[in-house]
Amino acid sequence: MCGIVGYIGENPERNLLYKLRLLEYRGYDSAGIAVSRGTSGAPSENNPLAVTKRAGELKNLENAVAQAGVTAGARLGIGHTRWATHGKPDATNAHPHVSSDGKWAVVHNGIIENHCELKRFLQNEGYSFYSETDTETIAKLLEYFEKRGFAPLQAIKRACDVLQGSFALAVLHENDDAIYFAKNKSPLYLAFSKRSNKKTATVQQADADAEAEGDLFIASDVVCFNDFAEEYYALPDKTYGFATAEKAEFYDGTGEIRLSSEKINAKSLCLRNNYAHYMLKEIYDTKNAIKEETDYFKTHLTRENYPLLFQPRAFKKIILTGCGTAYHAALTGARIIEEKCGADCEVYVGSEFYNAGYKLNKHALVVLISQSGETADTLAALTFAKEKGAATLAMINAEHSTLAKAADMALPVNAGAEIAVASTKAYSCQLVALYALAQTFQAAERQLPRPDLSGADELVKRLSYGDEEELRSFATLFGEGKKLFFIGRGTDYFTALEASLKIKETSYINADVYYAGELKHGFLALVDENAYVTAFATQKDTFLKTLSNAKEAQARGAKIILFTTASQEETKPYENSFFRILRVPKTDDALQSVQNVLPWQLIAYFLSVSKGLNPDKPRNLAKSVTVE
Ligand code: F6R
Repeated sequence: MCGIVGYIGENPERNLLYKLRLLEYRGYDSAGIAVSRGTSGAPSENNPLAVTKRAGELKNLENAVAQAGVTAGARLGIGHTRWATHGKPDATNAHPHVSSDGKWAVVHNGIIENHCELKRFLQNEGYSFYSETDTETIAKLLEYFEKRGFAPLQAIKRACDVLQGSFALAVLHENDDAIYFAKNKSPLYLAFSKRSNKKTATVQQADADAEAEGDLFIASDVVCFNDFAEEYYALPDKTYGFATAEKAEFYDGTGEIRLSSEKINAKSLCLRNNYAHYMLKEIYDTKNAIKEETDYFKTHLTRENYPLLFQPRAFKKIILTGCGTAYHAALTGARIIEEKCGADCEVYVGSEFYNAGYKLNKHALVVLISQSGETADTLAALTFAKEKGAATLAMINAEHSTLAKAADMALPVNAGAEIAVASTKAYSCQLVALYALAQTFQAAERQLPRPDLSGADELVKRLSYGDEEELRSFATLFGEGKKLFFIGRGTDYFTALEASLKIKETSYINADVYYAGELKHGFLALVDENAYVTAFATQKDTFLKTLSNAKEAQARGAKIILFTTASQEETKPYENSFFRILRVPKTDDALQSVQNVLPWQLIAYFLSVSKGLNPDKPRNLAKSVTVE
């Protein structure tokens, strides 16, 4: 949610824009850059910091930069791609934001919670504001401190002392050869294109510790470093400092702490190859991703690495939480865990997790599921769980994320980088990881050294993406403008929730989801001859009941689409009941949801494309939701 970059080197235009493209998944409401030449002179004598920003996708900024030649001679730059939180997505509210004297330019990811109060204070001091953003307050605050005699780094520190909320900042100050930065809660990383041998940097040291040669990069995501750096600095919360092309200094204002400098996982490199969109590529990545994930679990999900998970009945309660798609995975995961080992499970969306409060203590395990590992609501759930003394397990895709580092244990789902905003392969890998966790608890009960993952091996062999032509025809059907209803029971209902979310976010078409048994308790009033009701019925024990519910809708004029694992033979007696049937192969019960979701991800994709939309960038959304 908002991506920021900073760069010092010979080619700010190429590097800033290229890195912003990699971060565009974090928001595409607007984009902007600010550049300077540092001590060797500014891009224009009267305008030391050249700021260019445009509303809309990054390509608008790219065109503007190419036409204006604003980066000529510049050596330092910061950039931003925005997901709007404060103020509409126009060019005025786009970052960078500048101080009144034009000496400071700021890009920001996060939310300044006390910005209204700070703005009032600054207005009383004579400052006027041109935008509706919280970020402009930071630029004016830096100017305010500088005018009171603080050197730039001290002005940054002073600002950090008064800012409340979440922020990752990259800041230029006119004619300085440095980029200033600060971080609290929002992710921020730093890398040099060639690293010295030093593996750590020390906070609160006046002398430089992170020496390096070559270009400097600052970014919201390590994906920006993949093509050049083997190591990078992951900044801890409440850190500020500066970086030049030669060195970086990090401060925390209290004492010495070590910053980790970690190896980058080359797997996070993600290319679209010949696919028209990332979403399509990522759906078709699923099989390989599950294979890699399963192989990883076979060697890493062991008693030695996760002793707590292998203790029989170690937890009185297991609580699963996540947001959006990750929450849907949690719903299914809880059922699998309960079935496999009889554990007492509960599920909460991240933003409602505080409701789990009275059930949390050291006998509870909280499983936090997140693709990005940066979702603010899930991070808040983690903080809450830790405060209550519960054990925490982060189930993440982004291995080096905040969630992965902060939880007691981390289990990577290894789906590889996911760029499309709509989560697809990460969801499938989350389901497999939850299956592996359930098998681990079962192994613990049975005193076995490792979980039996043969079901996942079988799944990889049999997983079917379905027939594209058939799925396109369903996309056409769902695009006809009828009222869409999805019904199901148990895990079928959870798959229906995820199918509906994929369709909503990529096609802006509504599909109401109901428990099949609930339809008659009120929602049936919505059904008429203008409705398509899809019955998700892939479980044998609930098949007939779901079918009856679908027929109740049919009796009110709806057309019924059956989504099932049943064979032609098995559905023959009911043949006349259905308008269309979509079949999926049967798998291990605990992994059926992985197979089930695939055709729906593809249907959502085809539906989006048929409407002329870009499925990779749904309107109003961003991939990494770093605000609560
Ligand atoms: C939907 C989607 C979102 C995310 C949610 C949580 O396709 O991608 O609903 O699942 O924002 O994100 P993570 O998993 O990064 O915590």
